[in-house]
Amino acid sequence: MKSSHKNSSDIVIREFCIGDYDALIILWNDAQLEYKPKGRDRRDKIESELERGNAIFLVAEINGKLAGSILGTHDGRKGWINRLAVAPEFRKQGIARRLVSEVEDRLSELGIEIMACLIEDWNTKSMQVFEKLGYKKHSDIIYFTKRKHLDV
Ligand SMILES: CC(C)(COP(=O)(O)OP(=O)(O)OC[C@H]1O[C@@H](n2cnc3c(N)ncnc32)[C@H](O)[C@@H]1OP(=O)(O)O)[C@@H](O)C(=O)NCCC(=O)NCCS
Repeated sequence: MKSSHKNSSDIVIREFCIGDYDALIILWNDAQLEYKPKGRDRRDKIESELERGNAIFLVAEINGKLAGSILGTHDGRKGWINRLAVAPEFRKQGIARRLVSEVEDRLSELGIEIMACLIEDWNTKSMQVFEKLGYKKHSDIIYFTKRKHLDV
C-alpha cells in the first residue's frame, strides 16, 4: 500500500541525529537529490559538522519514516538552505514549506536577515518551489567555487 498521508499533525519535525544517517541516504536517493557521498555528506563529515554546532539539520518524520530533510547553515552574514528533500510519496503536502520555515525561524533568531539557496539550472521544479516560498531568482549571479578535490 502506498504510504501517503493527508494529516499534517502526523508530521514530526525534529533535529537530525547521526543514527538517522542510513535512512537519510535512502531518502536522498529516493528524492534524487544531488549530494556528495564522498565529500561533505560523508557520515563522519556530517557528524563533525553537527559537533561544530553551526548547522541546523532537521528531518520530517511520518510514522517513523524519514520523509524529508533540510540543512540550514550560516556564515554569520547569510543563511543557506541546503539538502532540502522530500520523499516522492510525501510531496505536495507542505512538508518542504514547513522545513524551510522552521530553518528560517531559527536563522532569524540568530540575527540572520537574508536566506539563500543554490539550485542547479536544470531543476526548474525546485526553482518554482522556492519562488512559492518567497525567494527571488538572481539570473545575473554565477556561482564560483575553489575545491580541494572534485568530491568535496
Ligand atoms: C523540492 C521539494 C523538496 C518540494 O517538496 P514538497 O514537500 O513537495 O513541497 P511543498 O509541498 O512544501 O510545496 C511548497 C510550495 O511549492 C509548490 N510546489 C511543490 N512542488 C511543486 C512542483 N513540482 N512544481 C511547482 N510547484 C510546486 C507547492 O504547491 C507549494 O506552494 P503552495 O503552498 O503555494 O501551494 C521536493 O520536490 C523534492 O524533494 N525534490 C527533489 C530534491 C530537490 O530538488 N531538492 C531541492 C534542491 S535545491
